[in-house]
Amino acid sequence: MVMKRIKVGIKGFDELVSGGFPVASTILLTGSPGTGKTIFGLQYLYNGAVKFREKGLYVTFEQTEDGLKEQAALFGWDFDKIIKSKMIQVLHVPTKEIDQETAKSIVDNVIKNKIRRLVIDSISTLAVNAPIYTFMTDAALIDISKGKSFFSPPVMGDFVVKRFLYGFIDDLRNVDHCTTILISESPEKGEYLSRDTISEFVCDGVIQITFESMGGEFSRSLLVRKMRHTKNDEDIHPLEINNNEGLIVHIIEK
Ligand SMILES: Nc1ncnc2c1ncn2[C@@H]1O[C@H](COP(=O)(O)OP(=O)(O)OP(=O)(O)O)[C@@H](O)[C@H]1O
Ligand SMILES: [Mg+2]
Repeated sequence: MVMKRIKVGIKGFDELVSGGFPVASTILLTGSPGTGKTIFGLQYLYNGAVKFREKGLYVTFEQTEDGLKEQAALFGWDFDKIIKSKMIQVLHVPTKEIDQETAKSIVDNVIKNKIRRLVIDSISTLAVNAPIYTFMTDAALIDISKGKSFFSPPVMGDFVVKRFLYGFIDDLRNVDHCTTILISESPEKGEYLSRDTISEFVCDGVIQITFESMGGEFSRSLLVRKMRHTKNDEDIHPLEINNNEGLIVHIIEK
């Protein structure tokens, strides 16, 4: 069976992943601050709406809707107009308002509105703020309240974040019409690609953007670390943020 694919539409990108993300997959987009993760997410939704008539939802805990519109406008993407036409929806949930319902309401929204492209900016913020309810209902916690727990709180917190992520990513994967980008802050150093240390294993694909000094100048590069069901490119590619086109992945001929 031929895998259905969804084009990101970033110049140079889709050819790295055999023509696009596998439909219904969940992709982790990880990078350090200021690497272009939000621009990638905006461009994915913009192209979906304008070139492919696919509905998008951008969930942000970090920026307001106006902030995102301004950022998109830098590249000539008129989000105001597209939002009015209902092809893209922006859902801004301030961090302090994230609760046990947030993750469920995102999945419900995707199903109800037949969303094809979802971006969560960022899964790192959602994962540390949303799962408190799991914690509250966990039998082990009830034991803690009785002073009987064997877990120390930090271990418990880590465990709860992981449990939340398994459940949430599973729920997203079960929505067969939606392909999701989960934006994640990567640790500057170390062996893991995400702060929670498991989403790179649970997600179907991982894209890593790095920002490094080369010969005194800083530059961005992009690597497809994994993509299930795909013979993906494994090279590191220069990533440009272009005033007119947004992100561009450069392919260096070998
Ligand atoms: N032409 C340009 N227009 C806008 N931003 C640009 C341009 N060229 C480079 N940039 C860079 O893009 C960065 C913003 O990208 P973006 O918001 O997508 O990063 P991010 O990875 O989401 O960051 P954060 O982790 O802080 O959310 C800025 O730090 C800026 O340096
Ligand atoms: Mg960002």
